[in-house]
Amino acid sequence: MKISIVAKPLGDIKTQAVVLTVYEAEPAKDIPGLTAEQNSLIARLRASGELSGKFKEFTLIHLDGCNAEKLLVMGLGRREDFTLERLMAVAAVSARNMRRIKVEEMAFANYYEDMEEVTLAATTQAIVEGVSLGLYRFDKYISGKKQDYMAIKHLKINVRDLVTQELEESARKGEVLAQSTNMARDLVNEPACQMTPAAFALAAAEVAKSHGIKIKIMQREELVKENMHALLAVNAGSAEPACVVVMEYDGGRSEDKVLGLVGKGVTFDSGGLSIKSNEQMYRMHCDMAGAAAVLGAMRSIAANRLPVNVVAVMPMTENLIDARSYKVGDIIKTREGKTVEILNTDAEGRLILADALSYIRSYRKIDYLVDIATLTGSVVSALGHFCAGVMSNSNAFYKFLKAASACSSEKVWQLPLFEEYKTQIKSDIADLENSGGSPAGSITAAMFLHEFIGETPWIHLDIAGTAWMDESIQPYMKAPFLPKEGATGSGTRLLYFLAEQLVGQPSVKIDI
Ligand code: BES
Ligand code: MN
Ligand code: ZN
Repeated sequence: MKISIVAKPLGDIKTQAVVLTVYEAEPAKDIPGLTAEQNSLIARLRASGELSGKFKEFTLIHLDGCNAEKLLVMGLGRREDFTLERLMAVAAVSARNMRRIKVEEMAFANYYEDMEEVTLAATTQAIVEGVSLGLYRFDKYISGKKQDYMAIKHLKINVRDLVTQELEESARKGEVLAQSTNMARDLVNEPACQMTPAAFALAAAEVAKSHGIKIKIMQREELVKENMHALLAVNAGSAEPACVVVMEYDGGRSEDKVLGLVGKGVTFDSGGLSIKSNEQMYRMHCDMAGAAAVLGAMRSIAANRLPVNVVAVMPMTENLIDARSYKVGDIIKTREGKTVEILNTDAEGRLILADALSYIRSYRKIDYLVDIATLTGSVVSALGHFCAGVMSNSNAFYKFLKAASACSSEKVWQLPLFEEYKTQIKSDIADLENSGGSPAGSITAAMFLHEFIGETPWIHLDIAGTAWMDESIQPYMKAPFLPKEGATGSGTRLLYFLAEQLVGQPSVKIDI
């Protein structure tokens, strides 16, 4: 999709469709460039209540004798309820509707210079993100394109005043963030027979090559040398070898702080010998969504040339069943040296993360450490599908995450790490157990990870509830920039905005 910024009166833009947003409960204003007749038609629609300005309401008006063939009037809701998330949603709805009626080129009126709480740069970014995220589809396996399939090929962002370099920058930034998120969605949507650890590593190598990121892929022999026996244990029942993808981007100065990102990369989670039911196993190819989010964030950070130093580690494996599978009751020695009694082979995520967290800390001095994982079913019970669980040992670091969450509109909520929970993962015959049972399952999983991070300021993000959407959840009505069904790319934008916060260069300034 081509994106350009144009400064012209609305009526002068030559395009198939113009999108204009209006607020609820405000008097209609004449739109410059439209004829008196057209303006009075719009005023009549407003007066009759057909065009009310309610959030996500859309009204299509055919224009005769104008430069634009169609005018789509989108409701933004009440002015005082304006958020960038709402603008993204409205941009997504408008793009989907325009695609449905085969519009290939649309202009979005970016008329928000009078809004106090946001800059025009931020709204530009939000419009681009909303359109690109909203148009995402995973349809490569459907034979032949759908009849109505046609993408928007050109998005024009229309501003009243000047096309500044800052606005151009924001549009590009928005495009990068959406592309990286859509890439993460593609990786997660890909079925497990395609998205093996090796296939993921290949995808990471491509990202590294095209964005100037250093990469190293650790294969089996190296994992043995590194004593990553927890990862190797999970991998034991699989015909696909495990690997660890290590990426490094040094956008900052050498004396600057280092952000470490670790993402769970289980390309299929059958549960192992503690096998899942078919219903629970379905979609478990999404269990590498943490790794995909980390890769997407690395891509965004590098493409936007953020002045930050980042190391990313993605441990990749399947969790399958075989004569060689690791077993319930096994005792495994992690890379860190701590031993773990296996109570449940389905609690595999924390095992591979333990080795990855231990590895990243010895690889380089990490000042801020984040891990992101589809780790527990418990977090779905606790927070549902619209909010990720966060656990952290550092309030200062958590504040950065809250600010990033406000920028990205990805909701997060903190759960506690009280010492008492540790009793649930103590073993009589080893240092730890890999399952704390069902009470506070997300917290005990985090308590387990906490054993492998030393004193490093650390955030754990559990995205088991937010990584995947299906129609039964119906988020679409509220967040149309998410797909109706499939991978959401959750965490990708959040981690990028977190990096922005850490270097003090937020592209969106929001009070929290
Ligand atoms: N990958 C799952 C968690 C999950 C659940 C992800 C639902 C996405 C949607 C994880 O490996 C798992 O199986 N966790 C167990 C842990 C338990 C055995 C201690 C769980 O949550 O049931
Ligand atoms: Mn599992
Ligand atoms: Zn899992």
